[in-house]
Amino acid sequence: RAWLPPEVWRAIGSRHTLVSGTGLLVDTVAAEVQRAAARHGGTLRRTTETPDQAPADLVLALTATLPGRRPPAAGPGVDLAALGALGPEGYVVARHGAATVLLADAPAGLLYGLFHLVRLGETAFSGAAAFSGAAAPDSAAAFGPPRVFRPAMARRMLDHWDNVDVHPVMGQVERGYSGGSIFWRDGAPAAGRSRITAYARLLAACGINAVSVNNVNVHATEARLLTDRLDDVADLADLLRPYGIRVHLAVTFAAPVVLGGLPTADPHDPAVRHWWAQTTRRVYARLPDFGGYLVKADSEGQPGPFSYGRDHADGANLLADALAPEGGVVHWRAFVYNHRQDWRDRRTDRARAAYDHFAPLDGRFRDNVIVQVKHGPVDFQTREPVSPVVAAMPGTRLAVELQVTQEYTGQQKHVCHLAPWWSEILRFAPWGADGRTVADVAADGGGLVAVSNVGDDPFWTGHPLAQANLYAFGRLAWDPRLDPSALLDEWIDLTFDPARSADPQLLRRTLHEIMDDSWRTYERYTAPLGVGFMVRPGHHYGPDVDGYEYTAWGTYHFADRDGVGVDRTRATGTGFTGQYPSPWSEVYESLDRCPDELLLFFHHVPYHHVLHSGRTVAQHIYDTHFDGVAEVAAMCRRWERLAGLVDPALHARVTERLAEQLRCAREWCDQVNAYFHRKSGVPDAQGRPLH
Ligand code: GCU
Repeated sequence: RAWLPPEVWRAIGSRHTLVSGTGLLVDTVAAEVQRAAARHGGTLRRTTETPDQAPADLVLALTATLPGRRPPAAGPGVDLAALGALGPEGYVVARHGAATVLLADAPAGLLYGLFHLVRLGETAFSGAAAFSGAAAPDSAAAFGPPRVFRPAMARRMLDHWDNVDVHPVMGQVERGYSGGSIFWRDGAPAAGRSRITAYARLLAACGINAVSVNNVNVHATEARLLTDRLDDVADLADLLRPYGIRVHLAVTFAAPVVLGGLPTADPHDPAVRHWWAQTTRRVYARLPDFGGYLVKADSEGQPGPFSYGRDHADGANLLADALAPEGGVVHWRAFVYNHRQDWRDRRTDRARAAYDHFAPLDGRFRDNVIVQVKHGPVDFQTREPVSPVVAAMPGTRLAVELQVTQEYTGQQKHVCHLAPWWSEILRFAPWGADGRTVADVAADGGGLVAVSNVGDDPFWTGHPLAQANLYAFGRLAWDPRLDPSALLDEWIDLTFDPARSADPQLLRRTLHEIMDDSWRTYERYTAPLGVGFMVRPGHHYGPDVDGYEYTAWGTYHFADRDGVGVDRTRATGTGFTGQYPSPWSEVYESLDRCPDELLLFFHHVPYHHVLHSGRTVAQHIYDTHFDGVAEVAAMCRRWERLAGLVDPALHARVTERLAEQLRCAREWCDQVNAYFHRKSGVPDAQGRPLH
């Protein structure tokens, strides 16, 4: 019940296909084609050497099997030399004589190319605009010249916050809203092996090639995955490997103490270094293609180098040195801040923390350290500026971390299609319009990472429409220039097979109407103008305007009778704006130039402050909250139109979630509006009830 139902394989499955090459992933490609052919009446021929000249509609070949790297069959050759190396995951698609030809230098390229052809469907064979994927619009009427596709990011990774044991507070999956873990259950590996294979296939189809299989908060049982429970990890790796996915492991920095029995985990202690080297050697002896470690250190109570008077470069390099001989990497998270802040102290600013800790360390990290930075400076809010760390560490490999699981964006009860938000983030240019983008920094560094939203729910993601977020994440990591709306079309085509629907246009239009702007809708009825939080403490669902206001977590809005917002300016506030390079440093500092949607993230303003939109802050809050609720009501009405056009169980599930979204949106609207009305005394210009 996700993308890739058997029907979408019709175009490939009804053809005569030749697969040539050897390797585990070539076997996977052949098995996929075989399965499709069995269902749709086509055939598969398999050769390990030079493809023969017998006719085929589709040729999938490793270039090594081609004499002179030339594709088989008559007709104009694809000049591979001119196309250059395809790389470990790249591929070229061409129309060649009567056949469609997919070539790759390495097996993974064939796999990604196969899924490209699935996306194209009949177009892959009809010759019309075959390359007009969202990636590269090509209006050529004919099939056009051969085009090479290579991923922008070498590593496209999902972090599962899955616990092996059920955690007393966080459950099986921390911040999971889709049932239990697909990897673990009650302290043991989960039973559904075929489900893990199905998952690997879904991930490969959207381009993901790495998965970290346990929570970044590493508890006692999970710590042991590194040592005596390594077999469990190896079993998972066996299931994910045929789809080109490498396994990574979240480890505790205290492992030498809690697992090795050493008195210290001090990165400068030779016995500690030796323990990590030995342990890592054993991991690779069991799992030669292991990806590496993921570490949350000195953050929210996790152990780290600070206990020993060392810094994060010392800590990360310790693990990097153990991994380097084996070719592994360490993802070291920059999500470090003081979670025991005194709320009375107005100078400490959580937004500053990652930069203050990490920017001074630039240049000190080993080459196989990837500093993994949350996209925003605080914590996956509905709206935040891009983290200044992204622009602050030119001498360090950075990965950017997104949150597909909807912790702060409706917990998969609300429709909140995040691709437009991620696209904005990835296209953001920290050094100004002509400079490099966030996507460029990630592509040159450690790639893109996201916290997974998947569980053992029949729809995988709790809310069936939240599948589109997972799909879009993978595709944006492959190519950050992809258009979010076109990606939604891809997902619709691969999931609902609209061509077979009774009313394809209504189906597509309705899904776009509901989903395209749903992130902004969510923003409208929740915390206003980038101020963030206002969620119920602990579980983070639903409104509680002051829920975090007088707590230690550093997430405050400072609303009083006169105004609201966090003064992060250099002139009068915490100085956070100074962490950005020009021009953003000046733009965010300036009350006039700061974008409306981030105003309260950077400035404390009176309620009568007039936004660029022409409305006052108070009126903006009232209007957007009423609008947000009205938009959710419209979503509910639109969804009703799809009854009978989609699977009834899916329809029922979304209907039920939309009802909850509407209830919750009203609650947000009522509480936020009442709160600001009572604080400010400002009436609504339209006289609507504010309670
Ligand atoms: C958030 C989230 C935690 C998580 C943390 C992290 O604070 O609420 O559950 O552990 O992010 O990213 O490490």
